Amino acid sequence: MAKDLSVVVNGIKFENPFVIASGPPGTNKATIKKAFNEGWGGVVVKTFSMDPSKVNNVAPRYGKLKSRINGEVIGFQNIELISDRPFEDWLKNLRELKEEYPNKVLIASIMEEYDKERWQKIVKLVQETGVDAFELNFSCPHGLPERKMGMAMGENPKIVKEVTEWVTEVATIPVWAKMTPNLTDITVPSQQAIDGGAHGIALINTILAVIGINLKTLRPMPTVKGYSIPGGYSGQACRPIALRHVMTLGRHLRAKNDSKTTISGMGGVEKAADAIEFILLGSDTVQACTGPMLQGFGMVKELISGLEAFMEEHDFNSVAEFKGKSLEYFTTHAHLAELKSGKFEKKEVAKDTDWSGEDISNQTANLTTE
Ligand SMILES: Cc1cc2nc3c(=O)[nH]c(=O)nc-3n(C[C@H](O)[C@H](O)[C@H](O)COP(=O)(O)O)c2cc1C
Repeated sequence: MAKDLSVVVNGIKFENPFVIASGPPGTNKATIKKAFNEGWGGVVVKTFSMDPSKVNNVAPRYGKLKSRINGEVIGFQNIELISDRPFEDWLKNLRELKEEYPNKVLIASIMEEYDKERWQKIVKLVQETGVDAFELNFSCPHGLPERKMGMAMGENPKIVKEVTEWVTEVATIPVWAKMTPNLTDITVPSQQAIDGGAHGIALINTILAVIGINLKTLRPMPTVKGYSIPGGYSGQACRPIALRHVMTLGRHLRAKNDSKTTISGMGGVEKAADAIEFILLGSDTVQACTGPMLQGFGMVKELISGLEAFMEEHDFNSVAEFKGKSLEYFTTHAHLAELKSGKFEKKEVAKDTDWSGEDISNQTANLTTE
């Protein structure tokens, strides 16, 4: 029997928890329609602001990290800016999309400079289109910080709170704040956003990175006329880091008895198994950007069938039933040492003196979880 995959998040019903993350897959009406038609529960549109005239994209603007074993793309980097489309076109498209797809969730990702009037103006104009929620981009790590936007705001907890307050003062729909992973403790700005009135936290945006150097030309990639900048790293290689941030926030909310604030987790989701991990660590919805860019929008079919199969296997009747279920299994290292005390298999290295020069790779394998 088909499982009910729907989730209710901040009062909004998603037919399934799978949401397109802000980026090229939600960049115009055609891509958003395609996402809805293929079965995604929601779309966070490409971040836009009221003045696209300062948005000057370059090409090439993407880079890839490939597996040495089979050439599969495991990491992806971009130096793309926010949307270069006119604000009026966004308002028109959002209105049309909401009319055409009343049951799909449409979330507007917005960004402005550090200016209360501008933030409140964009919120008021955009919410009139009928969108279901806002995602505040406090997290783009390249290009925009030069204009004191994106990550330049997100790494400053005081500003995160202040701007969130400006937004929630005038917003009549739920507000998610999207966090950068490029800091030590993601709970600090997240809590400031919550204190500023955010209803949910979206995480993570991309990880600031250098994808590689061309050893023939000695130029960093992606190379624009010989030069480059560090960019935002995404895709499956960044998933463990994303999971760690989501876990940290999930535990933080639990410790504060905050069952109201919702989490939209993302970073390297390509398969149902990946998405389920995010839910097990406390995510209400799961977003994906690089996955659909590399595989196409149809990847949602596997997300849906894989989630159904997982719920069948564990006899879960709703996604809410297993949300955050794995959080309780994180503990302290001292507790692990207590649990393990003395219980080493013969083949495992029990003490550092047991490491041998000849057998280090087998010894590593014996200490590695499958
Ligand atoms: C090409 C590209 C463009 C992106 N543009 C935006 C953006 O405009 N706003 C935003 O909040 N995040 C943007 N992101 C970040 C993604 O929404 C997401 O946070 C990140 O890529 C991690 O998820 P993923 O591994 O599924 O891509 C972009 C990512 C990529 C790859």
